[in-house]
Amino acid sequence: MSLAHVDPEIAELIKAEERRQADTVKLIPSENYVSKAVLEATGTVLTNKYSEGYAGKRYYEGQQVIDQIETLAIERAKALFGVRHANVQPYSGSPANLAIYMAFASPGDTVMGMGLPFGGHLTHGWSVSATGKWFNPVRYGVRRDTGRIDMDEVRDLAREHRPKLIFCGGTAIPRTIDFPAFAEIAREVGAVLAADIAHIAGLVAGGAHPSPVGHADVISTTTHKTLRGPRGAMLMADSDEHATALNKAVFPGLQGGPHNHTTAAIAVALKEAAAPEFSAYAHQVVANAKALADELLARGFDLVSGGTDNHLILIDLTSKGVAGKPAAQALDRAGLETNYNTVPFDPRKPFDPSGLRIGTPSVTSRGMGEAEMRQIAAWMDEVVTAVAKGDAEDVITRVHAEVSALTGKYPTPGLTA
Ligand SMILES: Cc1ncc(COP(=O)(O)O)c(C=O)c1O
Repeated sequence: MSLAHVDPEIAELIKAEERRQADTVKLIPSENYVSKAVLEATGTVLTNKYSEGYAGKRYYEGQQVIDQIETLAIERAKALFGVRHANVQPYSGSPANLAIYMAFASPGDTVMGMGLPFGGHLTHGWSVSATGKWFNPVRYGVRRDTGRIDMDEVRDLAREHRPKLIFCGGTAIPRTIDFPAFAEIAREVGAVLAADIAHIAGLVAGGAHPSPVGHADVISTTTHKTLRGPRGAMLMADSDEHATALNKAVFPGLQGGPHNHTTAAIAVALKEAAAPEFSAYAHQVVANAKALADELLARGFDLVSGGTDNHLILIDLTSKGVAGKPAAQALDRAGLETNYNTVPFDPRKPFDPSGLRIGTPSVTSRGMGEAEMRQIAAWMDEVVTAVAKGDAEDVITRVHAEVSALTGKYPTPGLTA
């Protein structure tokens, strides 16, 4: 029986979310629209199967098909990123990162990562995360004058604290990550270097951001952001020793049975990402982010680091006289979906910060280009300026109508395309 028949309530809510996603200009940089093929693979009978272990060495029978699916996903990941080993089983980015800790550090060990308020992820040793509670985290940030990572600070901290593990990469970094510089520091202090490319994996795959391969010892990534796959994650490494440690940490260290429907969808996404169109997509994501950033700058917005090299823009709204949360809420009502975010050295609290984090992966998947980015910047300016004046209702209503006219022209991958 169909979903609509069995559970009309949930079926209708899913339809409502489909409409919301189609009608919105989705600017959240960690989100995307997966293809129909990826969606189709996730909704399959593969969800019925248990397969603890790895291909050829499972703890359940009946793996004739699952082994082939997982092996295909692994081979495609290896080919796409140019690595010798890949593990496609982590349930998501956070468990993937936990597996890195489990593989290369013990509770109480010193680890190093970018502080959350500067753009690092929770799992890079932030205090409320298990990684900050169970390890001894040392945190680096960005320079106050440039908004960019201070590699001298990273080197000094690493020399002083000699961490077992160093994380580079993050969740709100608008600039290119200097993998060779991190690798040199990690080598000097004898640390394992983990590159968390969750945000930029699609850009790396498409050749629009330098690759950490050949520099980082291990690489973690989610599969659902710029890579445009299902919610999931992968771990990659070149050395047999690192790969064995990661495999053991994922299973049996942290997880039980892999989510085989997700593995199949990851395989599909990796096939899509190997096509020439995907490289064009990745470069357009960056071109769109630059166009959006330039127009925001021209309209007096203050951008952390002064712009972007990738898919992501971090706006400090202080100069506009509005905090991030009311701005994000007003923009959402106007059909422009963003997320409020701390900015480096933010004097405000994390739940009511000064910034907005936006990005171009989703709008680029819909086929929008630089002209649409300039229009989006203009709408953002109108709404934020109106919120600052305390009289935004009419502007929100008008912009929402204009946004709907635009989204109506761009099909939503997976839904209307
Ligand atoms: C850099 C980075 N690493 C890890 C994660 C965690 O991924 P998940 O939300 O799938 O656990 C995120 C999620 O935003 C991220 O941005």
